This record gives sequence, C-alpha cells and structure tokens, in this order.
Amino acid sequence: MTRAWEINPELEVQHLTMRFGGLTAIGDLSFNAARQQITALIGPNGAGKTTVFNCITGFYKPTEGMLKLNHEDGKSFLLERMDDFRVNREARVARTFQNIRLFTGMTVVENLMVAQHNTLMRASTMTIGALLGSRHYKRVEADAMEKSKYWLEKVGLTDRADDPAGDLPYGAQRRLEIARAMCTEPRLLCLDEPAAGLNPRESDELNKLLLSIRDDHKTAILLIEHDMSVVMGISDHVVVLDYGRKIADGTPGEVKANPDVIRAYLGVEDEEDDAEGKAAAAVVHEAVDHTPVAAAVLEASLETPRVAEKAPARKAAGPELLKKPRGKADDLKLIWGVGPAFEKLLNKVGVWHFDQVASWTSADIDHVDALLKGFHGRIRRDDWVNQAKKLASGWRPDNDIGERPATVKKPAPKAAKKGGRK
Ligand SMILES: Nc1ncnc2c1ncn2[C@@H]1O[C@H](COP(=O)(O)OP(=O)(O)O)[C@@H](O)[C@H]1O
Ligand SMILES: [Mg+2]
Repeated sequence: MTRAWEINPELEVQHLTMRFGGLTAIGDLSFNAARQQITALIGPNGAGKTTVFNCITGFYKPTEGMLKLNHEDGKSFLLERMDDFRVNREARVARTFQNIRLFTGMTVVENLMVAQHNTLMRASTMTIGALLGSRHYKRVEADAMEKSKYWLEKVGLTDRADDPAGDLPYGAQRRLEIARAMCTEPRLLCLDEPAAGLNPRESDELNKLLLSIRDDHKTAILLIEHDMSVVMGISDHVVVLDYGRKIADGTPGEVKANPDVIRAYLGVEDEEDDAEGKAAAAVVHEAVDHTPVAAAVLEASLETPRVAEKAPARKAAGPELLKKPRGKADDLKLIWGVGPAFEKLLNKVGVWHFDQVASWTSADIDHVDALLKGFHGRIRRDDWVNQAKKLASGWRPDNDIGERPATVKKPAPKAAKKGGRK
C-alpha cells in the first residue's frame, strides 16, 4: 500500500523529545503528516498531544528533535528554530486551541480581519499609505475582506458577521476559530480538539468543513481529536500517543484493530477526577466498543489466558501468579492507574491481590509489563508496587477528598496547569 505520508510529507517530526523538569511529556516521537491529507493525533488525556502542537507552532522549544515543514515548491523550514510568529507567517502553519481563543469583544468579521493583520500591515508601508488611502492598501484590504466573507460563508457565520464573537454559541466559536486560521492561508492547519463540545449535527458539519479544507484548499490538516467517529470518519492517517510515546501509526483501519491502542484507551478511565478526560474517554470507549474489529481484538486478548499457557503459575523466577484468587480477590482498581479493563487483564494473567503486586521485584515488573504489552511502563511510572504495599497493609483512600495510594504525584489538575501551556 502506498503511504502518502512516507513519500510526500508536508511535516516531518523526527525524534521529538520535550521535557518539563523531570517529566518527559514527549519521548523520541517520530511521524510524518502528508500533504493534502488529514492526519489525526490521538491518545488518552495527558498523552502529550497538545505539547506536540506547541512544539510545531513555536510555542515551546523542544528539548530534542527536528520538526521540518516542506512546502510544495521545495522550500523547507526547521520549525524548532523559529518563533511562533515566523512559523505562522513564513512556514504557513496555523492552529486552533484546545480552549478557544478568540477576541470575544470584537465582532466575528473583525476577528477574521485581525488574523490578516500581517498582510495588511505590510501593505500599509508604515501606515501612512493606509492613512492616505493608497490604492495598493485599499486593494489588499479589499482582498482581506473578500477572504473574510468567503470563510464566513464557508463556516455558516455570514449572518453573525457583526455580532461580538463572544456572543456566538460554542460550536459557532469553534468554526470561527477555524475560519480565522484559514484566513492566513496555511499549508498546515493544526486543530486541537475541534469537535469537543459539539453536538452530532455540528460534528457532522465540522467533518464536511475539514474535508473541504483538505480537498478544495489543498491544505494538510493535523487533527487532535477524541471523538472517534470524527477520527475514523475523515482521517487518512492516524498516529497514536500514550504517555508521550508513539504506540501506533497507520491507516484508521490498522490503528482501530491495534490491541495496544485499545488498551491505552481503556486505561484512561482511571483519570476519574478529570471530568473532561472522563467524558472524552467515555466517547472513545464507546466508539471502540462499538467498533467490531476493535471489540473482537479486545475480546480475543481477554479470552487468551496467556500466562496459564506460556508460563506455569509460580515459576522459580518471576512473579507469583495464581490461577484463582485466594478466597476473595482484592479490588485492584484501588491502585491508581488500574481501571476495570486493566484489572480484568491482570486477573487473566494471574494477579488478584495487592500483596502479589507489592512483592514484585524490578524483574517481575518487566515480566508483567511484557505479558501485558499495552502497559508500556505504567507499572513503574505509577509506582504500582508501593501503592500495593500501602493497600496490602490495609490502608484505604479517603474518597471524599479523592485521595490516592499513589506515592508518585498525579499530574497537576487541569485548572492549575492552564496558564501558559495551552
Ligand atoms: N508547560 C508545561 N509544564 C509542565 N508540564 C507540562 C506543560 N505542558 C504540558 N505538560 C505536561 O505534559 C503532559 C502532556 O500534556 P498535554 O500535551 O497537554 O497532553 P494532551 O494534550 O495529550 O492531553 C502532561 O503530563 C502535562 O501535565
Ligand atoms: Mg491536549
């Protein structure tokens, strides 16, 4: 099968690493996004998706790695060396934000005109031309107005052109953000969860809009999206992140059938105190559940008692694994990082009790990690062993304050980390 993203990439991300203090938000990530295709970047909350956008668009300087944008005319840009202003103006990369950023006090059409400010400023030659009404400036201004009108029509906001942007309903604000980005005529459009909060009709309209941007405006789209119906419906290529690492990369069909992907999503449920994440996870979960291929793969992985076949219970080396619980099984979901799906998988391989987990050596962790391919180092990262020790000793979390047995800190709550990172 020909893969456009391998042959003709608009964007090449190579060995991208982004660290914040001790936290590696993105670890050695490489992928391409093809010209005139829709590439979806998906993954559970906190996987590093927005951070990838922040690196591409010049908001963050990556710790390591190369981000190369290739224009069709042969010009290339190393985005990691450019500030956000030049990434937009010269490399022609535009973005929207996970949390809408519009000038809410300006009208809808003013928001679109402001987006074209650079072009207008260049034409005004120190603004005196504008003051004197030079013909060149007038023409450029008329062009900008034409473009605004075109995109207003396209996103169905012509009737609201003179209303303050802040008065628009949520879905309309999302569309206005896309229109604003398109007014800068990008070669690569980066959209951070554009379907979040949309109703099914709006979501459907958004799909059509994105397909038209791809096909009629020959623009490459990089799309962060939680809504699997959007992802599977319109993407040409899907890249899956989990804990800052790539776990899958392929066509929607390939990715949908990948057991690692399914597990990564099922694991996300554990972020129960993150309402946004939970809602998003539920949507994904639903989509995955209702995808016959995915469901079949998950089912198969659950039905195969891998350990029972491959390794006899209680080997001389390796963790203690039990065919059945000793009496009543512990509620492994009390370990932060373990959700219902992981608990089921753990039971399948013979883990039922806190004391089993509490006794794991480093080699045992590797053993279990390898048995359950989808875990990708979660056991160590979330310090399951020390959590289990605490739980095995009878400690229970105070649910009223959302206490966790984790000895590692959960990433800061959304509200606290909003400033400056989105
Ligand atoms: N500016 C920052 N400072 C510290 N940590 C950050 C910053 N931006 C993102 N992170 C952390 O990086 C990880 C990935 O975050 P993010 O890219 O927002 O994930 P996603 O968009 O996939 O939900 C999270 O653990 C988050 O807390
Ligand atoms: Mg994000």
